Amino acid sequence: MTETTAMRHGEADLDVDRRTGGRPIRRIVYTPQQIAKEVARIGREITSCYEGEDDLLVLGLLKGSFIFLSDLVRHIGRPLQVDFLVASSYGAGTTSSGDVQLLYDPAAPLAGRNVILVEDIVDSGNTLSLMIEALQARQPKSLEICALLHKHIARRLALEPRWVGFDAPLEFLVGYGLDHAEDFRHLPFIASLAE
Ligand code: IMP
Ligand code: MG
Repeated sequence: MTETTAMRHGEADLDVDRRTGGRPIRRIVYTPQQIAKEVARIGREITSCYEGEDDLLVLGLLKGSFIFLSDLVRHIGRPLQVDFLVASSYGAGTTSSGDVQLLYDPAAPLAGRNVILVEDIVDSGNTLSLMIEALQARQPKSLEICALLHKHIARRLALEPRWVGFDAPLEFLVGYGLDHAEDFRHLPFIASLAE
């Protein structure tokens, strides 16, 4: 990432090279401002969707959703609770291995509750399919998916995300919680990784 690329996005203050240690980022795909706008919109939509409901559990899929979820819940204007799930799939690669494991289950009982599963990105949909199955088995009152990014290549999803921040390009994205081999999660923007 060169200074000129950062400037073109009006983001000269992001100091990309310092944050990435100079490792190659192809381009900034979504700026902090663009992300904040969509997160606020989704927060408002969730707030009105659950009007009159006395219960809401926001379930974040770790680790990728940690920043999105933190920002999102602060835009939801109603009582709610937060818990997390941990799954793993990609390892150090940039394509889905299809081998998804559930490493941690929420402690909170889900039966009879309104549950929103918060995902960073829907790519192949393997992770989401496994999560939907595992969560529906617990018989929540309702289950909805909220994904910051959706690549729209997933097939046979049992449940389409009700809320999506961005229809993402078919590139490997990092930042705002998304990693490559555990790096780049802390970037305040979403960038496309150079091959
Ligand atoms: P899926 O199972 O292929 O839909 O992938 C889901 C998970 O893989 C996401 O929750 C991410 O953690 C990771 N992932 C998928 N695509 C990307 C990407 O472009 N960048 C970073 N992580 C990704
Ligand atoms: Mg990941």
